[in-house]
Amino acid sequence: MRITASLQSRIGLFLFSCLWLSGCAHLAYQHMNDPSRDAWQKPKDVVERLGITPGSRIADLGAGGGYFTWHLASAAGPQGRVYAVDIDETGLKIITKEMQMRHITNVVPVHAEPTDARLPEPVDLVFSCDTYHHMDDRVAYFKSLTRYLKPDGRVAILDFHPHGFFSGLLGHGSAAEEVRREMESAGYRRTADFDLIDRQHFQMFMRSGF
Ligand SMILES: C[S@@+](CC[C@H](N)C(=O)[O-])C[C@H]1O[C@@H](n2cnc3c(N)ncnc32)[C@H](O)[C@@H]1O
Repeated sequence: MRITASLQSRIGLFLFSCLWLSGCAHLAYQHMNDPSRDAWQKPKDVVERLGITPGSRIADLGAGGGYFTWHLASAAGPQGRVYAVDIDETGLKIITKEMQMRHITNVVPVHAEPTDARLPEPVDLVFSCDTYHHMDDRVAYFKSLTRYLKPDGRVAILDFHPHGFFSGLLGHGSAAEEVRREMESAGYRRTADFDLIDRQHFQMFMRSGF
């Protein structure tokens, strides 16, 4: 039997959920960083659409094991800074180890609270992949996040479409329209809606006044 990329990643998502539910968070994070994910996640195309300028300050909100962190850090360049923000120390430890191994100096791990990203300075871009559906009271969260955003700062949100067993039935996703509505209630306006990834929506927001 030939295993298609789609079937392969669905099996991956299943394994990830099993690992997470059985408490093997470390293995789950390693699975998230599996290079086979590149085939459908298209991280280079995603980062290209973000239009990051060298020297940018970026928050990777819900950084996990750093899958996107390294791509963002490369786009921000040596004068830039990427805050790898997560509430779970397991992923932050993986990121710290990787930074040391690869001598990366423009990434700063941040141990956040569920209701507070705890960023040390305002950023140009908050990037968040596959994290939105994990968050509680998102309208309040993104309303208060504006204190960490430069006036013309942007927020990029990618999340799984709520279809199928894992993303739909188990709630491992959110509807694009739901994200847009909630972000508008939090005081943002949508500036882009990219049709790039089959299984995820990818939207950009700015504060309403900008
Ligand atoms: C499914 S992982 C995605 C990781 C990474 N963005 C990626 O694409 O591989 C979701 C991550 O969001 C984190 N998370 C959940 N709620 C959060 C919150 N309120 N603030 C920061 N991180 C959060 C989780 O701990 C987890 O590491």
